[in-house]
Amino acid sequence: MNSTVRLTTPFHSHSTTSEVIDGVDLVGRRVIVTGGASGIGAATVRALATAGAEVTIATRNPASAEPLLREFAAISGAGRVRAEAVDLADLSSVAAFARGWQGPLDVLVANAGIMAIPDRQVTAEGWELQLATNYLGHFALAVGLLGHLRAAGNARIVVVSSGAHRNAPFDFDDPQFVHRPYDRWAAYGQSKTADVLFAVGARRWATDGITANALNPGWISTNLQRHVDDATMRALGAMDEDGNIIEKPYYKTAAQGAATSVLLAASPLVEGATGRYFEDNQQAAVVLPDQADRVGGVAPHALDPHAADRLWEYATRTIH
Ligand SMILES: NC(=O)c1ccc[n+]([C@@H]2O[C@H](COP(=O)([O-])OP(=O)(O)OC[C@H]3O[C@@H](n4cnc5c(N)ncnc54)[C@H](OP(=O)(O)O)[C@@H]3O)[C@@H](O)[C@H]2O)c1
Repeated sequence: MNSTVRLTTPFHSHSTTSEVIDGVDLVGRRVIVTGGASGIGAATVRALATAGAEVTIATRNPASAEPLLREFAAISGAGRVRAEAVDLADLSSVAAFARGWQGPLDVLVANAGIMAIPDRQVTAEGWELQLATNYLGHFALAVGLLGHLRAAGNARIVVVSSGAHRNAPFDFDDPQFVHRPYDRWAAYGQSKTADVLFAVGARRWATDGITANALNPGWISTNLQRHVDDATMRALGAMDEDGNIIEKPYYKTAAQGAATSVLLAASPLVEGATGRYFEDNQQAAVVLPDQADRVGGVAPHALDPHAADRLWEYATRTIH
């Protein structure tokens, strides 16, 4: 695959998971979806299991996955779905999850996330909570599962980022907001830039047959917005004065929002692609500095291979 040519597919912004995975057989494939009990993650689990994959939902609270587990237990021909506990903001929990994994792992979907935590919170390790959950925990999980990804021979890592990455390059001088004032959106954006840089940095695993790509799912109404207050929702034009959500044409259902994750996890159309950023089921265009008003696209700071290597070193030091 030519890495300088932008990868396109026949799908579009409102294509669903069923459309992008139509005709793909995942029987015998083993998948982990973090945060797979709700929102975009649950839609990802549904699509991959329906195509026959054996899916493990990695969630803080396995009981929250019960409805999904029951749904799939009743569908003949679907892959087995199970739930395992992991707290991505707790390094010992991530290590325990990785230690407990047996056998090859074909796909890791790093989907779990939190957004716009109002005040700076830190984990037991002293990491800012959004960076810890959205990036460092997933990095530690992938490193912990590396032997199993290698064993699959042709594994894929899918990292769910966000268009919010465009607002915040990774701040190597103060990633944990120790010296600069905490800003919940800067912290979210930075964690999502780190997610893209993770996919870029993972090119070092290509010789093991492992590919990694990042994506923006688009705007989907989920539990993610639970920390966004009404005033911010109104300022974003997403809520009216009576507290009703204002539907915009670009809003997606969960099955549309999860389509790009599913495409990257399973479609032969992206076979061999690595270190790329997708949205609306296409590789995204790079947004240049004088195109700040442009909707969508990927910022150069998120694709910079030097920043990706520097972040890889930072994360490796941090999790050890
Ligand atoms: N919705 C959007 O418009 C949108 C836009 C751009 C990007 N995204 C990204 O899409 C991904 C999925 O979000 P969503 O919209 O589907 O929201 P969601 O329904 O809130 O899903 C997020 C999941 O992450 C899990 N999670 C949070 N903290 C965790 C932790 N410490 N350890 C393990 N799991 C944890 C949550 O589980 P709990 O039940 O335990 O909290 C939940 O299942 C996120 O990475 C988000 O940043 C979403």
